[in-house]
Amino acid sequence: LSLKGFNTFGVEARAKYFFEAITVDDLLWIIHQEEFKGKKMILGGGSNMLLTQDFDGLIIKISFKEKWIEKSHDDYTLVSVMAGENWHQFVQWTIEQGLGGLENLSLIPGNVGTAPVQNIGAYGVEVKDTFHHLEALNMETGEFEIFRAEDCNFGYRQSYFKEGGKNKYIIIRVFFCLTHTNHVLNTKYGAIEAELERMGEEPSIQSISKAVCNIRSSKLPDPVLLGNSGSFFKNPVVPNAAYEKLKAEFPDIVAYPAGNGYTKLAAGWLIEKAGWKGFRRGDAAVHEKQALVLVNHGKASGKEIEALATEIKESIKRTFAVNLEEEINLI
Ligand code: EPU
Repeated sequence: LSLKGFNTFGVEARAKYFFEAITVDDLLWIIHQEEFKGKKMILGGGSNMLLTQDFDGLIIKISFKEKWIEKSHDDYTLVSVMAGENWHQFVQWTIEQGLGGLENLSLIPGNVGTAPVQNIGAYGVEVKDTFHHLEALNMETGEFEIFRAEDCNFGYRQSYFKEGGKNKYIIIRVFFCLTHTNHVLNTKYGAIEAELERMGEEPSIQSISKAVCNIRSSKLPDPVLLGNSGSFFKNPVVPNAAYEKLKAEFPDIVAYPAGNGYTKLAAGWLIEKAGWKGFRRGDAAVHEKQALVLVNHGKASGKEIEALATEIKESIKRTFAVNLEEEINLI
């Protein structure tokens, strides 16, 4: 089966076997089939990966959907959502219910099940901030397990599910703790305040969501129109001393304090400064409005995009002595 339609980069690759789990029972059935005990890969929205070769095993696409309000407490509401729901549609639904906490995470591509894996984040908010717990299927034992926030080891675009739990668990559903009153609005990051001003609206969960959608669509390409996986690299975190040295040489460098003696550098700035913004070789390119995003203009292969990424990494290493790490999963 061709995977072109199942990855937002829109690259061609083939899977030996492909199974779509519409229900949790479908999933339980397939993982117990002796025939497919070998190599497996779990696929959500396909929005955070780059396929660089054919997959010689079974791909399980998680498509079980449903979302509901689990419980309303005096000061918060517990919401439950199945892993196969589209992330943005889920966020929009919470806002329609008058629930706050996810508005800054509007318009992020992908599905709910991969949001905690990656601890997705944008505009000063991360999934971990409203995460309550999740249920995951242990593929080795066939048992369901509960993970509280402290079990997930959340970090910047990082979690237990990318470390020790990698290829071991399938996330089934996620619970979020949202506000129905006294919303905590986060407008300080980036261009949100300026955008609200431009829109002529007061901060609210609805207006912030709209502002975030406007900002994102002005610089991040829509994967339906131009293949991409959002930020290709993480923003590198370096010791303050290394940052001070860079700052002396490049006074306009963009960076944020990361605590504990570390500074987070804007990788988009490094890549742009090194001259890569808008660079194109064949159909593999660096987005012209956001240098942290690599794009596929149509027929680029995963290998070509990977080769471009490697060249960028070497260039950033030479120019700034900084190591860039992929944010996406290379398959
Ligand atoms: N910048 C440049 N040139 C560029 C791009 C960025 O100079 O081509 C500089 C700008 O000065 C800008 C700064 O870098 O002020 C930061 O850029 P931006 O606000 O666009 O955010 P980012 O650090 O590039 C991160 C996340 C995004 C998230 C935004 C907003 C990572 C790897 N990326 O990007 O997440 O939407 O902040 O919060 O942390 C994703 O993970 O896929 C993603 C899109």
